[in-house]
Amino acid sequence: MAHDITLNLGDEQATLNLGASFSSSLVPGVTVYLHGDLGAGKTTFVRGVLNGLGFIGKVKSPTYTLVEPYQLSISEVNTNLYHFDLYRFIDEEEWDVAGFREYFNPSSICLVEWSAKAGSLIPTADIDLYLTLVGTGRSARLIGNTFVGKKCLEHYLSY
Ligand SMILES: Nc1ncnc2c1ncn2[C@@H]1O[C@H](COP(=O)(O)OP(=O)(O)OP(=O)(O)O)[C@@H](O)[C@H]1O
Ligand SMILES: [Mg+2]
Repeated sequence: MAHDITLNLGDEQATLNLGASFSSSLVPGVTVYLHGDLGAGKTTFVRGVLNGLGFIGKVKSPTYTLVEPYQLSISEVNTNLYHFDLYRFIDEEEWDVAGFREYFNPSSICLVEWSAKAGSLIPTADIDLYLTLVGTGRSARLIGNTFVGKKCLEHYLSY
């Protein structure tokens, strides 16, 4: 099924390649939750996405800042991509104070690690990516939840 895809990622490069491939079907307004244990490869995947979208700088894990913003051009449209790592998110009041609510809007893309830490504050995901450790590599499962999310995965199937 186009909206439920499982892939083997033998090494770090495979995770980067998946991110880059996935990036070509991303459209503004999409929210992706990145699931998986510590060290599963979530940030590596985001690095692949950003590289695929032409970002050349360093992609750092927003462990303490909770979010790292990127300004990108997608199909010549200026788009904000927000990479969240909510592992250390504890204060629910911080959500609005930090402006996180506004980060989820029709012209931005949000890639979110540890989404469950935000409870019901966070908008639902168009796509869920599950990364699990398999031997020395990883397994990836992509699930499209919404019309736009399923559409992204259809494009991506040519991968
Ligand atoms: N397919 C893969 N096979 C083997 N190693 C991988 C693979 N993908 C990523 N890695 C490695 O896993 C390590 C952890 O990756 P990463 O920082 O992306 O994890 P994470 O899920 O973001 O963890 P955290 O929850 O702590 O933020 C890195 O050293 C990376 O090189
Ligand atoms: Mg990470």
